[in-house]
Amino acid sequence: MKVDVLLGLQWGDEGKGKVVDVLTPNYDVIARFQGGPNAGHTLEFDGIKHVLNTIPSGIFHSNKMNVVGNGVVIDPILFMKEVDALTGMKVPINERMVISRKAHLILPTHRLLDAASEQAKGKKKIGSTLKGIGPTYMDKTGRNGLRVGDIESTNFEERYNNLKEKHIQLLSQFDFEYDLIEMETEWMKSIERFKSFVLVDSEHLINAQKKEGKRILAEGAQGTLLDIDFGSYPFVTSSNTITAGACTGLGVAPNQIGEVYGIFKAYCTRVGSGPFPTELEDEVGERMRKAGHEFGATTGRPRRCGWIDLPALKYACMINGVTQLIMTKADVLSEFETIKACTGYKYKGEVIDFMPFDVVGEELVPVYDELEGWSEDLTGLRSIDDIPATLQSYIDYLERILETPITIVSVGPDRSQTLMRESTWATA
Ligand code: GDP
Ligand code: IMO
Ligand code: MG
Repeated sequence: MKVDVLLGLQWGDEGKGKVVDVLTPNYDVIARFQGGPNAGHTLEFDGIKHVLNTIPSGIFHSNKMNVVGNGVVIDPILFMKEVDALTGMKVPINERMVISRKAHLILPTHRLLDAASEQAKGKKKIGSTLKGIGPTYMDKTGRNGLRVGDIESTNFEERYNNLKEKHIQLLSQFDFEYDLIEMETEWMKSIERFKSFVLVDSEHLINAQKKEGKRILAEGAQGTLLDIDFGSYPFVTSSNTITAGACTGLGVAPNQIGEVYGIFKAYCTRVGSGPFPTELEDEVGERMRKAGHEFGATTGRPRRCGWIDLPALKYACMINGVTQLIMTKADVLSEFETIKACTGYKYKGEVIDFMPFDVVGEELVPVYDELEGWSEDLTGLRSIDDIPATLQSYIDYLERILETPITIVSVGPDRSQTLMRESTWATA
């Protein structure tokens, strides 16, 4: 069996956690391949909302293996908080999760460096979640990082101290005050607790599971437009959030990737700084934020809202080799009589249908198609056969432009609010 991948096609928060949870019964293994506690993946069932940061979204199902892959970066303190919350809900997490020895550790000083660097950038700040993601991946590529497997070595503390000293040197170049002692004590305690988890060489494990015919779903974090190579650089995260990231973040060969589920909201949001051509900085955007409860799952920050951006989505489909599309939050658009979809941008006097190299500081004016909306409340629907005709037209329109079938439509945050769909796009 090949490895399927589910990842975000926009700027994150597309609903990955919810849909991975819904798809988990079809799989044996759920594996996170990049990112870290900058992610916030929300799941809802039985009237309870759960937010996961580092732990894969298959964790609530019994008899499934959850893997934190080598491409992930882990903050032991935040990780243990997540573990404690799940243990409190009687989730037998030790039985259901393994962690790659090759995953990198986020040190307290990585978090401080993230904060110091953002502060120094002033108005040009990325809007980082301040979880230490950038500095940790910098140490990984700079070949200085500490990995999960290192905690088993006898000189771990010495190596920790060496790296910490390097960071302290770097911090001295910033006008930034900090108190490391408390964080460090908690970090060391968390490292001790970390030793009780099953640490594995996850690339071997995943390939062995695959050979046995087990079905594997790779879960992405962030979204394609936040990818370090293909996102709106420098306003991006520090990992490859795309399908190729699943290969490097889990040790799966490119020719072993099967379905690629690309997930997107029926509109668009972004949290943090950076270009967002279809952003609505008006009352319409405010209505969208309210109707969609668009506040960050990790930081609580209000998300910027706007209409769907089709050139950006087409680009994301191309980069990822998306085979099936999943549209979420269709219910939120019930709020609007007319829906807009951006088909191109006016840029330097002409209309283009791609994101230019450097949009920072340049005006990019979206060109829109206007479509009739649906006012019906979708949240009670349980079958795709019952959707309003105007929503059906929106789906047909998107499939035509994106040249990819939409096979799942989500109409609310709960597991049950998920409509499976047999697309006829390919034969239409
Ligand atoms: P993720 O990071 O991609 O997992 O997404 P987040 O959890 O950060 O943000 C998605 C938010 O939308 C969460 O609050 C979900 O509970 C919620 N959500 C997911 N799908 C739907 C949907 O179809 N409709 C509505 N109204 N909310 C949804
Ligand atoms: P999930 O997995 C939305 C954004 C931050 C910031 C930029 C860099 O929940 O979709 P970082 O902390 O990585 O240095 O921040 O990326 N960002 C996200 N936005 N969803 C996420 O994850 C994000 N993870 C990072 O807001 O703009
Ligand atoms: Mg999120």
